[in-house]
Amino acid sequence: MRRKNWMKVLVTGGAGYIGSHTCKYLAERGHSVVTYDNLSTGHRELVKWGPFVHGDIRDYASLRRAIHTHEPDGLIHFASVIAVGESVQNPGLYYDINCMGSLTIMQVLRDEGVRPLVVSGSAAVYGLPNVCPVGESAVTNPINPYGRTKLVMEWMLADFEVAHKLPWVALRYFNASGADADGETGEWHEPETHLIPNVLRAVRGGQELKVFGNDYSTPDGTCIRDYIHVSDLAAAHVAALEHLLAGRPSTSINLGTGRGVSVAEIIAKASQVTGKPVPYTVYPRRPGDPAMLVADPARGREVLGWEAKYSDLETILSSAWAWECAGKTAH
Ligand SMILES: NC(=O)c1ccc[n+]([C@@H]2O[C@H](COP(=O)([O-])OP(=O)(O)OC[C@H]3O[C@@H](n4cnc5c(N)ncnc54)[C@H](O)[C@@H]3O)[C@@H](O)[C@H]2O)c1
Repeated sequence: MRRKNWMKVLVTGGAGYIGSHTCKYLAERGHSVVTYDNLSTGHRELVKWGPFVHGDIRDYASLRRAIHTHEPDGLIHFASVIAVGESVQNPGLYYDINCMGSLTIMQVLRDEGVRPLVVSGSAAVYGLPNVCPVGESAVTNPINPYGRTKLVMEWMLADFEVAHKLPWVALRYFNASGADADGETGEWHEPETHLIPNVLRAVRGGQELKVFGNDYSTPDGTCIRDYIHVSDLAAAHVAALEHLLAGRPSTSINLGTGRGVSVAEIIAKASQVTGKPVPYTVYPRRPGDPAMLVADPARGREVLGWEAKYSDLETILSSAWAWECAGKTAH
């Protein structure tokens, strides 16, 4: 497989949160980026680092045309629906976009010429793991449709590799968080289901913060998660693509820090960073929330030479707060 310093990358979902940070990261390193997105949840304003193709990943002809026209060296695939609760209410949408859409990408690559594919996996493939920290050899047993769609995608990738030699890396993120250090992009989901932006919106007085459960078997009773800065995620995608372009093997890799942070710790730190109190209300536990979910990051280090650099709580919260205060998100 060819190895060169410069790559052209087609990014599906590049108008979204993690995709836009990855486009910026690629462009800053001199790579060429094409965003392919249907703007269903993404934002045209966040496509700043290369051409934009408006298209759906389930549209075989449109995607094939984009790949034929732009001839990327590789693809990074973020396009997805992402809300666990919605996936329970509307599983058809999730299987359609996350499974059929991913299948369409693989079929286009099969027919247009295989090239490396890096995809957004998720810690949701593990369900309620009985080990902590969670390594890639932990049992995959997703407990909701969202997690199942991510696991099915990985199974399809393994089958396409056997049949069509499609090289792939699935990056299983834990909790993506934070925003671009220059404020050029940030987290912009509507509705927002993630804790940190919701903590910051509560600080600004926009909405109530709900804390689901404070009676878990953790030191302060609130759930513990592994927060990984979005710029660290961006770097891992580029490292994964370079790994594949160098002819190294397909694999699944957890992306996290190995450090657990509780909801109460986030609230306390957010209060410190913003200089304001965080009003919140405690609600009963949500079904399906494990007390603790923390990645074992060893494999990312060994296989990709990747390590989180920006994922300390101070950097995560101050970058997210700066983005929130810039008022670019419409809420
Ligand atoms: N945010 C997290 O904490 C997290 C954690 C684990 C995994 N992930 C995964 O990371 C990826 C990106 O997440 P995000 O937070 O940036 O989400 P996002 O909603 O901000 O971005 C998703 C992008 O995909 C686009 N898209 C959706 N359906 C499409 C379709 N059918 N065709 C073309 N484009 C489509 C949207 O318009 C949007 O721009 C997703 O695959 C998600 O499952 C996210």
